[in-house]
Amino acid sequence: MSEGRIRIAPSILTADFGRLAEQVRAAEAAGVDLMHLDVMDGHFVPPLSFGTEVMAAVKAATSLPVEMHLMVERPEEHFDGFAELGAGTQIFHFEAARDLDRCRDLIAQLRALGCAPAIAISPETPVSAIVELLPEIEQVTVMTIRPGWGGQSLKEELLAKVTAIRQAADALGRPDFTIEIDGGVKSHNIGQCVAAGADVLVAGSAVFNEHQAPSEAVAELRAAIGAPSA
Ligand code: DX5
Ligand code: ZN
Repeated sequence: MSEGRIRIAPSILTADFGRLAEQVRAAEAAGVDLMHLDVMDGHFVPPLSFGTEVMAAVKAATSLPVEMHLMVERPEEHFDGFAELGAGTQIFHFEAARDLDRCRDLIAQLRALGCAPAIAISPETPVSAIVELLPEIEQVTVMTIRPGWGGQSLKEELLAKVTAIRQAADALGRPDFTIEIDGGVKSHNIGQCVAAGADVLVAGSAVFNEHQAPSEAVAELRAAIGAPSA
């Protein structure tokens, strides 16, 4: 398991976009660690979400790091715009890149832009597809739902992938390698996610929902992993 602090990364997909800045500020005040922005192109996944305009609005509302999760067929068409706006990490999908050579091209492009390269794997992709790339990237994002929609349930059987990646990263002598879980993280399963070896937990509907303020939601997530609230 990673030694560092467990980080919580709210996805704004289920936020109220009519008061986006307020919601982002509320999440920051609640002590989250970074913002996770889901970009969807209507091809790689059926829905459309947003692009640089919304990212700029989020950046204007927070000083937290912002990572981009690109659920798009051609991530390279978006790297520049998000890098210019100050994206720290950009996550592309292995299923969009399709092979290792293409992944390496995309990794090099992100490095040239000063962004941390990260790869997301959808539920059907085994760890073996990307394990060779671990020395070249900073993060793997393990999707524990079908990408495209917030509010789904985490598929627990996929947590074994997180453990396998953590073991591979440890074997490479990279204890600080980032492993993120994206999809269905809630207070009742966040402990399992951390135990599996994740150190960044994306939380969309767990943080932005109609029942709770972000402050209460984040405190609940932190309490569930035994960490003090900010
Ligand atoms: C879905 C996105 C996720 C999602 C998380 O494809 O990548 O980031 O919005 O939302 P929850 O936490 O509600 O599953
Ligand atoms: Zn995401």
